[in-house]
Amino acid sequence: MAFPKGFLWGGATAANQCEGGYLDGGKGLSIADVLTAGSLNEERKNTLVVKEGEYYPSHIAIDMYHHYKEDIALFAEMGFNCYRMSINWARIYPNGYDEVPNEEGLQFYDDLFDECLKNGIEPIVTLSHYETPLGLYTKFGGWKSRECIDCFVRYCKTVFTRYKGKVKYWMTFNEINCLEMNSWNGAAMLEEDLQTKTQAAHHLFVASALAVIAGHEIDPENKIGMMYGGLFSYANSCNPADVQANIDTMHAQLFYCDVMCKGYYPNYKLKQLERENIIIQKAPEDDEILMKGKVDYLAYSYYMTLVAGEKTAKAELANGNLFTGYKNPYLEQSQWGWQIDPMGIRISMNELYDRYNIPLMIVENGLGAVDEVKEDGTVDDDYRIDYLREHIREMEKGVNIDGIPLLAYTPWGCIDIVSAGTGEMKKRYGFIYVDRDNDGNGTLKRYRKKSFYWYKKVIASNGADLD
Ligand code: BG6
Repeated sequence: MAFPKGFLWGGATAANQCEGGYLDGGKGLSIADVLTAGSLNEERKNTLVVKEGEYYPSHIAIDMYHHYKEDIALFAEMGFNCYRMSINWARIYPNGYDEVPNEEGLQFYDDLFDECLKNGIEPIVTLSHYETPLGLYTKFGGWKSRECIDCFVRYCKTVFTRYKGKVKYWMTFNEINCLEMNSWNGAAMLEEDLQTKTQAAHHLFVASALAVIAGHEIDPENKIGMMYGGLFSYANSCNPADVQANIDTMHAQLFYCDVMCKGYYPNYKLKQLERENIIIQKAPEDDEILMKGKVDYLAYSYYMTLVAGEKTAKAELANGNLFTGYKNPYLEQSQWGWQIDPMGIRISMNELYDRYNIPLMIVENGLGAVDEVKEDGTVDDDYRIDYLREHIREMEKGVNIDGIPLLAYTPWGCIDIVSAGTGEMKKRYGFIYVDRDNDGNGTLKRYRKKSFYWYKKVIASNGADLD
């Protein structure tokens, strides 16, 4: 069955994973620009300055900074009517704390949005996608400091004003709950202890709420959402102890959505903080700001599900980008060990909508896989088509059977980009192949994969034709 009229079909990227041009047009360094390639996030964080002789995947990435017209034309050819992307904050405020924005950076996104709109593509913009300006780390130590709030709000007001009428859908912090697992991406800081992370999360919440308030004031047409890194888990068995363990696992993540969608800290979190002697330093106005700055919609990523429960001899750990849990014997896995669970996407939609009752967007989904370009320039990525088809099928049930207001579907890495987790290029998600390898070799030429033509058909039929 088709999706509702006006459904937004597109794809998603993040500036630091695709743009390159890392110092072009007056841009400053972001926290992604000092990450080398590596199999683990910890390995990637090995310099924190740009060192001669080291390879930094974000510096050129797929050079979308210089190829965006060609790339948007390819998106339009597939029929995209939306494109989720991020503004690289350090293009606008090179150090993060500057008083005056960088005009060249602002102009770059003006041109990019114009190109999208000319092609009938609605931009959906993430304000901060793992690319906080490095200056906020060097000057303040990252989001543990309250100073970051003003810097973020200044940046948001600048772009809300500049792009008024061009951009309507915004989201504040990508996968905000990833701070739970990784302080660097999530909050531009090195500390991993609960006290510091809880304080940083509070600053992120207040900053996001202030951005929502300012965004609505600047343009009442603006819709400003949060972005949740979709962790969904099942209880390992019907043993009530497993069920409770799963609730605890989900609470650790859903806490972020609870604050941003409901406007206050949930009791289970307040009790945990009390037990662990964690004190949040709040300004007197913070609680009111959180309540006033509730988000308009909930956007999330969905790649896999995990299993939570009591540790048993049989329980084996599964892989994930940032999340870990046990393997699910009912599910297959990707080449990177992520558990593939199409039915889980519908379950996730129900869980989130039942809990928050606001519209949803699925802004990341997809299969990271090794692709091969044949001599004639084609890529037969049937495995990717299968993955996406099964997920869209279940998503459609969520919309048409369960009646969930889903606004958009933007599969991840619609054009091949650098992996956020490992810095690799060979982990590809795209409908468009980019000739570039893990070490930065390649022509950067773009090729249409088999999935390109398949997704074009899906969009043309508004999701009715998935064959
Ligand atoms: C999400 C991030 O966690 O997963 C993206 O928002 C990321 O930035 C995506 O690229 C896929 O993860 P990876 O590690 O395969 O790139």
